[in-house]
Amino acid sequence: MLRVVVCVSGGGTNLQAILDAEAEDKLAGAHVAAVISNNREAYALKRAEKAGVPGLCVSPKDYPDRETYHRAFLEAMDSLQPDLIVLAGFLVKIPAEMIRRYSGRILNIHPSLIPAFCGTGYYGLKVHEGVLKRGVRVTGATVHFVDEGMDTGPILLQKAVEVRPDDTPETLQKRVMEEAEWLLLPSAIRLIAEGRVKIWAGKAVVQTKEGDLL
Ligand code: GAR
Repeated sequence: MLRVVVCVSGGGTNLQAILDAEAEDKLAGAHVAAVISNNREAYALKRAEKAGVPGLCVSPKDYPDRETYHRAFLEAMDSLQPDLIVLAGFLVKIPAEMIRRYSGRILNIHPSLIPAFCGTGYYGLKVHEGVLKRGVRVTGATVHFVDEGMDTGPILLQKAVEVRPDDTPETLQKRVMEEAEWLLLPSAIRLIAEGRVKIWAGKAVVQTKEGDLL
C-alpha cells in the first residue's frame, strides 16, 4: 500500500477528488494517511476530518523563523512515513531538505500547461488572470514532480482545457478544475501506486496501458 500525505492550504477540492477516488477504489490501493495544512482555517482540513483522515496544521506563523518552521514541517512529515507527498493547492515553498529527502516522491498540481503561466507569482486565480490577459485559447493543468526550482520538475500528466471568450478568472478556474485537475491528480497517484512511473534523464516516463489519461 502506498502511503500518501496530502499538503493543502485552502479549499481542498483537489484533496476531495483524491479522497473520493480512494473511496471508489480507484487509486490502486494508495491510501491518504494524513493531510497537512499550513493554514488552520483551511476548509481542506474539514474535508479530511469528514473522511476520517488525520489532519494537522504546521504553520510558519507558529514559529519564530523559517528555519524552525522547516524543521517542524520536516519532523511532522517524517513521523507520517509517506511513500508519496502530494501538494494539492499547497502554497508554501517546500524546504530544500524535504525535497532532497523525498526526491522523486513529491507531486504538485499546477493549474496551467507548464511551462506557460508558472513560476514565481503564478498560483491560484493569478494563473487564470495571466491566461486571460495574454489571450491564449487553450490552458489546462499539469501534475509534475517537485524539484528545487519553481514548477520546474519532471512533468507526469497534463490536460488541455478550452479558454472561452466570456471567461472570467473564476469561470476558467472552475473549468480547469473540473475538466483537468480533479482527473489528473488521482490518475497520477494511481500510476505511481501501480509502479508504472520512472524518472529517467530528468523526465517522467510512464508505462502506458489502454484507458490512460496520457
Ligand atoms: C488549485 O487550482 C491548484 O492547482 C492551485 O491552487 C488551487 C487549489 O485549490 N495550485 C497552485 O496554484 C500551485 N501553484 P483546492 O484547494 O480547491 O484544491
